[in-house]
Amino acid sequence: MSDDFHERLAALDDQPVNPTANTPLDELVDQRRRSLLKGGLALCALGFLGGGLISPRVLRAEPAALLGFKGVAVQQDPQFDRVVVAEGYSARPFFSWGDPVLPGAPAWRADASDDWRAQELQAGDNHDGMHYFPFPDDPNDHGLLVINHESINQTLHPRGLTFEKRADGSRGRPEGEVRKEIAAHGLSVIEVRKDGAGQWRRVAGSPYNRRITGSTPMQLSGPLAGHESMKTTSDPGGRTVLGTLNNCSMGVTPWGTYLICEENWHQYFVNRDRDDYAARVSHRRYGISNRGSSNYYAWEAVDPRFDATPYPDQPHAGHVNEPHRFGWVVEVDPFDPQSTPKKRTAVGRFCRECSTLSLGADNRMAFYYGDDTKGEYVYKFVPAGRYQPGDSAANRDLLDEGTLYVARFDANGGGRWLPLVFGENGLNAGNGFASQAEVLLNARAAADLLGATPMDRPEWVAVHPRTREVYVSLTNNSDRGRKDNQPLDAANPRKRNLHGQILRWNEAGGDPTATSFRWEVFLLAGEGEDSAADENLRGTINGDIFSSPDSLYFDRAGRLWIETDYEDGEAEMHAMGCNQLLCADPQSREVRRFMVGPRGCEMTGITQTPDGRTMWVNIQHPGISYPASDGKSIPRSTTVVITRDDGGVIGS
Ligand code: FEO
Ligand code: CA
Ligand code: CA
Repeated sequence: MSDDFHERLAALDDQPVNPTANTPLDELVDQRRRSLLKGGLALCALGFLGGGLISPRVLRAEPAALLGFKGVAVQQDPQFDRVVVAEGYSARPFFSWGDPVLPGAPAWRADASDDWRAQELQAGDNHDGMHYFPFPDDPNDHGLLVINHESINQTLHPRGLTFEKRADGSRGRPEGEVRKEIAAHGLSVIEVRKDGAGQWRRVAGSPYNRRITGSTPMQLSGPLAGHESMKTTSDPGGRTVLGTLNNCSMGVTPWGTYLICEENWHQYFVNRDRDDYAARVSHRRYGISNRGSSNYYAWEAVDPRFDATPYPDQPHAGHVNEPHRFGWVVEVDPFDPQSTPKKRTAVGRFCRECSTLSLGADNRMAFYYGDDTKGEYVYKFVPAGRYQPGDSAANRDLLDEGTLYVARFDANGGGRWLPLVFGENGLNAGNGFASQAEVLLNARAAADLLGATPMDRPEWVAVHPRTREVYVSLTNNSDRGRKDNQPLDAANPRKRNLHGQILRWNEAGGDPTATSFRWEVFLLAGEGEDSAADENLRGTINGDIFSSPDSLYFDRAGRLWIETDYEDGEAEMHAMGCNQLLCADPQSREVRRFMVGPRGCEMTGITQTPDGRTMWVNIQHPGISYPASDGKSIPRSTTVVITRDDGGVIGS
C-alpha cells in the first residue's frame, strides 16, 4: 500500500460526519475515528460499523418510518427468470460466474468444459457472502467488492458433473472437471467504481483483483497450527493448507480484513475405513462420508488429499487429518493482493456459516457464528485482546487467542454462553479432550458435553448498528420434534419446522463479551395465521410472508434485511413463490418484501456503500436462464447491483 493511499485516508478525518451521534456505538466510532484513519487500511470498518462516511444530511432526511418503499408481490410463475425489485428501484446483473477477474481471463463461454486454467482467472460459482470495502478518496463511488463462491452447479460443465464407474466399484472423475470445480470455489476480489454516467463498473486489470480458490496456499495459525492432528503426507509440518471450501457467509474485522467462513466442507471428504470412522469423532461428528466415494464431489478420485481414509504406511497416515484443516475462519486482507490468507483455529471447528462482529464500547469484541446443520449450535468467539485503532501490528493476530462459547437458550428467556475451555466443565481427557487444541478441533462434541441448545439450522447473524442487539436466522429443520436429540423447545418451537424463525437477544449490560443474555423469538416465518392448515406452517409475520430466512444484514439506519433460501418448487412452498429479499423494522416488526429472485435461486449475500445508496445482493444458483432471461441460456450465479432511481437511500 502506498504512502499516498495512507495520506488520503488521513485526509478523510476532516469530514464532519457522525450521523447518529446520539447512539453509543456511533459515538464510539466517532471518538476513535482520528486514530483509526491514521491507521490506514482499517477505513472499511467505518462503512461496516455505520460510522463516518455518510453525509449527515442523508440520515437527517430519513423519515421516522424505517420502511419507505412499496412492497412487491410473491412471484409464482414457474418459468420466472428475472428479478423484480420495488417500484422506483433498478436492479441489474453486475458480476456473474465466469466473468473475467484476472489478466488473461477469457470471456465466459458455456462450452468451456474442462478449461480449469480459465476458471482460475474468472469469477467462481455460487456467489454467497459479500462485502464492499470503500476507498477513502471516493468511498461511495469506488471500492473493492469481495464475494464468496460457496460451491458449484451442474452447469459448470456442459454435460454436468460426470462420474466413471471403476472396476473396484469406486467412482472416477475427469481431472479437468475436478480442477475446474476446485477453481470455481473460494473468493473473488474486484475493484468497482462508478463511471462518468453514474453506472457501477468492474475495473478490468485492477491490481487489487484477486481469486482465491480451493487450491490457494494459506497459513494455519492459532492453537492448531503445527499440531499433530493437522499433519498430512503432503504437509508434514501441519502449517500450510491448500484452499478454502464451501465459503458461505462472511465477516469483517474492525481493522479492515475480510473473514471467509467454511461451511459444508465435510462434503468433500471420504473415510472408507468403517472401524476407523466409527472411532474418529473428528470425522463422524461432522458427517464426513464413509460410504465408498459417495460424497457429492468424489474429488478424491483425482486428488488424494480428499481421501481421508487412514493409510498407516504413509507419513501421518496419508490425509486422514486433511478434514481437520477445514471448518475455520480464513482472514484475508483485500487491500493486499499478495498477502497469504490465514486460517484461524482459535475460533473452533464446525460448519461455520458466518462470523459477525459486535464491537464493545471498550473495544473488546465478539464474533458470532451459526453452525448450519440440523440440531447444531450458535457460537461466539471473544478475542483475548482488544481492538487497537490504528495499530495494525497489534490487531494482526487478534483472532489467534480468545475464548469460544456456545449458546444455551433457556425456556424463561434467559441464555448462557458456555465456555469451550479445556479442563473446565468436563472438557478433559476422561471425556476425550486431551488439550484445548482438541476442544477446538472437536468443538461440536465439546458443545454436546456442555449442554448447548440444538437449533433449527443457524445461518446468518446480524448485530444492530446502535443497540448491539443480535439476530440469528434459524432457517428450517425437518427433524425438529421427530428426533430424540432435537425435541421442541422455546427457541425451536415447531415440529417438522419447514419455515424457520428469527431469534434476537441482548447481551447482559450491552457487552458483547458477556456470558449471559436475554432472548426472544423475533418472528416465526411461514404462512399467514389463517391460511395454513398445519399449525407448524403458520408464521407470526407482521406483513409479507416468507420461508427459510438465511442472510441477515443491518443497514446503518437499523433496517434488518432478510434473504431467503427454500426449495421454491416444493408444494409446501407454493404460497411463498420465488426466493425473496425482505426488509424488517426491528421495533414494529413489520416485514415488507423488497425484491423477488428468479425461479430456483436462493438470495444471499448483501452489502452497501457507506451512504446506503447502492446495494449489492447475490442470486445464487438461478434455475432458468438468469441473467440472460431469455428462457434458454445457461443460468449463472450473479451479483446484482441495486440503486434507487432518484438516487436515494435504499429502503428509506
Ligand atoms: Fe451456505 Fe447455510 O448456507
Ligand atoms: Ca446461507
Ligand atoms: Ca440456506
